[in-house]
Amino acid sequence: MKALLLAGGLGTRLRPLTFTRPKHLLPIVNRPHIDHVLDLLQLHGVDEAVLTTSYLAEAFNETVVSARARGLAVQVTHESRPLGTAGAIRHAASVLGAETFLAMNADVLTDADLGALIDLHRDRDARMTLLLTPVDDPSSYGVVPTYDDGLVQGFVEKPPMAEARTNLINAGVYVMEPEVLERIPEGETWSAERQLFPELVDAKEMYAFHLDAYWMDIGTPQKYLRANLDALQGAYRSDVADHLTRTGALLGRDVLVADGASIHTSSVGDASRIGAGARIEGSVLLPGVVVGDGASVSGCILGAGANVDGGTDLLGVTVADGDSIGGQEEL
Ligand code: GDD
Ligand code: MG
Repeated sequence: MKALLLAGGLGTRLRPLTFTRPKHLLPIVNRPHIDHVLDLLQLHGVDEAVLTTSYLAEAFNETVVSARARGLAVQVTHESRPLGTAGAIRHAASVLGAETFLAMNADVLTDADLGALIDLHRDRDARMTLLLTPVDDPSSYGVVPTYDDGLVQGFVEKPPMAEARTNLINAGVYVMEPEVLERIPEGETWSAERQLFPELVDAKEMYAFHLDAYWMDIGTPQKYLRANLDALQGAYRSDVADHLTRTGALLGRDVLVADGASIHTSSVGDASRIGAGARIEGSVLLPGVVVGDGASVSGCILGAGANVDGGTDLLGVTVADGDSIGGQEEL
């Protein structure tokens, strides 16, 4: 089976980090997020992926080369301007062919059982089946009430909190029949969530199921950081546990940690330098970060090559690639 990956969005909520890369390439436990998505596909026997790109598309070149090297056939489609979540799928129609396919929001970190979702799709003879996941605040997602047999009652994208009829939301993992493509106009900007899905619901062609699994959309700084901490702490399945320090830190290659520094539940990118007596906790450091002596960094995301002056206290901030933060600055 082929899996289409939606990876062409601008990632605005993760600026400034996404000024220089698509969010899908931000590291989760020191590997590009998209590599975890490709792992999931391979784990479930999906060996052909269609990567739909637009914003900063060339940044994915390395991903494609390394995926092909490990036996995943990857094809890339490119939208010169983002065509929307359904428009992107329609744009890839010629590559998808005439068989059942998977589609995924490529900014989702999950260890959901794709095979089980495909089985449910076939059992119900559905045109489209989507994965549901529970969240505390459904208002920033697609809210999807269903009947007992999984038939979707309605699909409401990002409703006000008071109008959300369930806390089960669209997890952005879909099984689709090729006939679905016929409902999307060619060459137009078209939204899966606001245009295509409501049509499929009206036609009683869409089913949805909750499978117990880890799930996180990495699209905001808080959730991106959470996904990393969940992976470090084992809530998300990965082999990272074998590589952690006693204090739950993951250190990249050529990281220098000076005497008296402490690093707890954090990932530190390659070639970073942590100064004497510095304290890092619950944070993500991209490659090449420099933290000065005695600085304290807690709940932060530090962009590639960021510099934190000695003695600075940082709490809950995101620092852009290459920025310098000094003790005197207002945050
Ligand atoms: N190729 C392509 N073209 N990809 C796109 C485009 C486009 O025009 N627009 C968005 N994408 C990609 C994004 O890069 C991302 O990987 C994925 O599609 C979803 O877009 P987001 O912008 O992250 O959407 P969201 O998080 O606000 O909401 C979506 O995901 C939620 C679950 O995380 C919706 O599908 C919700 O219904 C859902 O609950
Ligand atoms: Mg998202």
